[in-house]
Amino acid sequence: MKPIIFDVDTGIDDALAMAYALNSPELELLGFTTCFGNVPVEEATRNTFVVLEMVGKDVPVYEGADQTFKRGMKPEWARMVHGDDGLGNTLKTEPAYRASNGSAVDFIIEQVKKRPNEITILAVGPLTNVALAIEKAPEIIPLIKDVVIMGGAVYVPGNVTPYGEANIVADPEAAEHVFSSGLSVTLVGLDVTMETLLPLSKVNEWRKIDNEAARFFADMTEHYIGAYESFYPGIGGCALHDPLAVGVVIDPSFVQTESVKVSVVTEGEEMGNTVGVKEGGPIIRVCTEVEAERFLDHFLSRVL
Ligand code: BDR
Ligand code: CA
Repeated sequence: MKPIIFDVDTGIDDALAMAYALNSPELELLGFTTCFGNVPVEEATRNTFVVLEMVGKDVPVYEGADQTFKRGMKPEWARMVHGDDGLGNTLKTEPAYRASNGSAVDFIIEQVKKRPNEITILAVGPLTNVALAIEKAPEIIPLIKDVVIMGGAVYVPGNVTPYGEANIVADPEAAEHVFSSGLSVTLVGLDVTMETLLPLSKVNEWRKIDNEAARFFADMTEHYIGAYESFYPGIGGCALHDPLAVGVVIDPSFVQTESVKVSVVTEGEEMGNTVGVKEGGPIIRVCTEVEAERFLDHFLSRVL
């Protein structure tokens, strides 16, 4: 089993990624850490507990950053895509408050020191928690096995601006800090995630399963597909961004990678752009191709 710390900003595709990971026997989920992003961090923590309950698993949740790494910014939330509650407006009543199990940054540092060279950090939100952890304890950098990140758009356009992908635009300085730190990084960006589309027909099959969890995932994902159809008319589904990062941890052969240095534009019109260059700094594995159908089958066989 691969020990994982799973960093989330729980919106809809984070929730799908969580379910996929929680149902995958290859992964040992040590804990979830939460970050602002799709929603404010308190809501990301709440949503993480909601998804754990739906999947019927108990894994500790550690709340993390409520603002960006350097400039104390709280970027715009993605309620247009993920709904007012971040879960496709599926929360009919506010769930009972559950406190975080502790600090995300301290949890990351403590776990990595306890299990040197074993832990993969799977980060599918802004990179703030990872940046804060390696800034506070730089000695953990060589002890982290890999950081698999859903983020960036190296050879394709962005999704929140013509250049930038949401997780990187939300905190470009955190991303730059992580990419230039010497950490082992695998970048699962829009270059590959936009090819992994989940069509509504598959989601409708979940409706044949008569239980609360299946209804929750179907309603939420239908909302997400609706948002995709409004932003990209005729696209035929929603992109499985965060689930693909989980898939890459389970089976790296879903993707092909290229090793390049990636720098992040932190100012101006191109803010959040992830630029791949051949030489001159720490090398990152950028995913460039994906076996989308094989991945989709695998995801569907596990998610519910
Ligand atoms: C990423 O942005 C978020 O809205 C999604 O959860 C995903 O992590 C896609 O750009
Ligand atoms: Ca996310």
